[in-house]
Amino acid sequence: MNINNQNNKGTVWGRRSTFVLAATGSAVGLGNIWKFPYVVGENGGGAFVLMYLVFIVLIGVPIMMAEVTLGRHGRTNPIHAVAKIVREGGASPFWKLIGWSGVLAGFLILSFYSVIAGWTLDYFSASANGQFVGLTGEGSGAAFEHLLASPWRLAVWHSVFMGMTVVVVGLGVIRGLEVGLRLIMPLLFVLLLMLLAYAASVGDFGAAWRFMFVFNPAGLSWGGASVALGHAFFTLSLAMGAMMAYGSYMPGGDSIGKMVFTVAALDTVVALIAGLAIFPIVFATPGLSAGEGPGLIFVSLPVAFGAMPAGVVFGTVFFALMVLAAWSSTISLLEPAVAYVTERFSMSRARANALIAGGAWLLGIGSVLSFNAWKDVSVLLGMNVFGFLDFFTQRVMLPLGGLLLAVFVGWVVRRELLHHEMKPRSEMLFSTWLWLLKYLCPAALLAILLAGVWDQFS
Ligand code: PFF
Repeated sequence: MNINNQNNKGTVWGRRSTFVLAATGSAVGLGNIWKFPYVVGENGGGAFVLMYLVFIVLIGVPIMMAEVTLGRHGRTNPIHAVAKIVREGGASPFWKLIGWSGVLAGFLILSFYSVIAGWTLDYFSASANGQFVGLTGEGSGAAFEHLLASPWRLAVWHSVFMGMTVVVVGLGVIRGLEVGLRLIMPLLFVLLLMLLAYAASVGDFGAAWRFMFVFNPAGLSWGGASVALGHAFFTLSLAMGAMMAYGSYMPGGDSIGKMVFTVAALDTVVALIAGLAIFPIVFATPGLSAGEGPGLIFVSLPVAFGAMPAGVVFGTVFFALMVLAAWSSTISLLEPAVAYVTERFSMSRARANALIAGGAWLLGIGSVLSFNAWKDVSVLLGMNVFGFLDFFTQRVMLPLGGLLLAVFVGWVVRRELLHHEMKPRSEMLFSTWLWLLKYLCPAALLAILLAGVWDQFS
């Protein structure tokens, strides 16, 4: 069980529950607590939430099962795992693209994810220093803008965060994750529930509930569907090699379906609780609005922590947990590329790690500057570096990767192989899964991919 050697082959999670824990650690992150509330806010609430939930169940879960199945059969990094299955089945080399695009998307996302994770480090230290006490909505907004306007501050936190990720990936994902996550995940959950209780008691819970769950047909749009689908993939860590890499460490006898359901359910519950904890505060605080954008939680939560009893303690613990949740996600973003380079070039893990993290760090500086000096520098159609990476990964690469995965597993991979890996308890569920991959997922993914790109360019 040593992952520090030259090769990851043969590495297996120490305990059965570790796959669920590690995959949940990958899935639950900034996407749930930072991104979900703000994309719901920007896209008008109820209709968006409904689309997101439908996509999780009908597209996200089947694709996650497909990815884990490929990883477990391949028993190696995503690029080699897909190549092996292509070779075994005599399929066209075209399908190897799945592994490549996953590893590349993970690398691109890592570059900006680490920048946002840096914000949580900054907020952790601000909270510990008592800077939230008595903060107003306007004051909080100004503090956030001040952070974004300081490239050095952003770059330093981004560097610290990338460094933290490098350390765990260097030590060996399995050892690092198995120890840490058993504590982090339950704690994060408890703290979110406490925040929810606080928000419900002082904020406008009714308004938040109506905003998130009352379905308004006028809120349905192709642009919204594309954002919802991209987010469903992002939050479940799909089409990025992460689930395939973690699946490759899964012991042979485990039921993939059950585990994937558990991970998806936990991820969704955390996102919904985060939304229900944040919107009551947003609606009850003058100067804050739901459509705030990426700063939503960074301006709303400090106001809540600044006003509540023992807010310094809760705020500090909360941001510490955000840091940890983001950390377990960046680890899974870096791991697939490191595993590949280590195996492909017989390079030491330390070297591959430094090389890839260094590249992602450098690209991340482009995102750091997108909030200040390069804010108006357009990479494509008015999008700055961060805007472009965010758009390109989530609205193009992830749906495209998902489409390839669905078609490959649904149509190309042999049914017996899938059956053997999945070990389905029910033949009906197995056939339903295959049907979703064959027909529904490709059709929906293609429609939404095209509509999303059209929406952006028109
Ligand atoms: N799922 C993570 C989140 O919601 O924050 C982000 C992520 C992690 C995406 C790892 C992809 C990945 F491979």
